[in-house]
Amino acid sequence: MRILVTGATGMLGRALVPALVKAGHQVRALSRTKRESRGNVEWVWGDLFSGHGIPEAVAGVDAVAHLATSGRKGRGAADIPGTRQLVLAARDAGIGHVLLTSMVGADRVPVGYLTYKLEAERLVAGSGLGWTVLRSTPFQQWLHRRLRDYASLPVLPVDPSVLVQPVHTGEVAARAAELIAGAPLGAAVEFGGPQVLGHAELTRTWCRLHGLRRMFLPVRFPGRLHAAERAGDLTTDATPAGTITWRDFLAPPAPADTPPGGSDDFATEHTASPTSPATQPEQDPDVHVYGGDDGYERPTRS
Ligand SMILES: NC(=O)c1ccc[n+]([C@@H]2O[C@H](COP(=O)([O-])OP(=O)(O)OC[C@H]3O[C@@H](n4cnc5c(N)ncnc54)[C@H](OP(=O)(O)O)[C@@H]3O)[C@@H](O)[C@H]2O)c1
Repeated sequence: MRILVTGATGMLGRALVPALVKAGHQVRALSRTKRESRGNVEWVWGDLFSGHGIPEAVAGVDAVAHLATSGRKGRGAADIPGTRQLVLAARDAGIGHVLLTSMVGADRVPVGYLTYKLEAERLVAGSGLGWTVLRSTPFQQWLHRRLRDYASLPVLPVDPSVLVQPVHTGEVAARAAELIAGAPLGAAVEFGGPQVLGHAELTRTWCRLHGLRRMFLPVRFPGRLHAAERAGDLTTDATPAGTITWRDFLAPPAPADTPPGGSDDFATEHTASPTSPATQPEQDPDVHVYGGDDGYERPTRS
């Protein structure tokens, strides 16, 4: 199949593009930065917010995996007007299937970023196109970045009752690749990580595996989003689910058959860290991602 991936340079996109290529698809990858096409990946320039380049991006593809997002601070620019531009162009181009990535809880917790995701879901579902929504729980890579951002504090506030279900982007990408290659479901499906952890446990594991000693200050995080997290509304027991645990993401077990000093396949496949060049779009525009973890001190377990 010929598949357009929006958000191809993002955390999930960098896992999905190679997964699609590996599955034998031709991939067109969208970015607001011009990039050189290589191998089975054709990079195209486009901006979902302005709509520039979008009709050209969808022309001639069979399906679209719509990952692009403006994130929590982006006021929904790529998520709402961007999704609108995309579905209009996709309709004109007669695209058979649009897969939108969203978040577990978007339908249950109309707060902040989740309202943008829910509106994007509605746009896709009401587009008249074949559609599937894949709602995931928070990515391990994203949680790692968040923790790293505030790890320099000597005292870390934690809310033990906030529930988090970290999932690996490689596993979300595999599920997305499977769904986009199939018939449109006309429904939303959920995909979560293998464990639901309390925020204190999540933070404690992260600190321990990074060799950091920190004092924890138990608090009750304010706001509706955290209340929903406490109630478990941002978790899912849907199957299939991811299998890579938070601990295994942070400290991958050595594969049993690894020759001494030899292959690092598990890490190569599953643990491109957020600090790795593989997840730094501006440094490494090549989509042959998971390119190692240079500069990132990843602890390993025996
Ligand atoms: N992060 C999580 O924990 C998480 C959890 C569950 C679901 N999700 C969902 O998974 C999807 C991917 O998230 P992510 O964390 O991988 O995203 P990300 O790393 O923040 O990347 C955002 C992507 O969106 C693209 N983008 C932003 N604005 C754009 C615009 N105006 N036009 C075209 N492209 C634009 C960026 O491309 P350029 O900068 O190259 O243009 C970039 O590739 C999203 O739908 C998100 O809601 C994320």
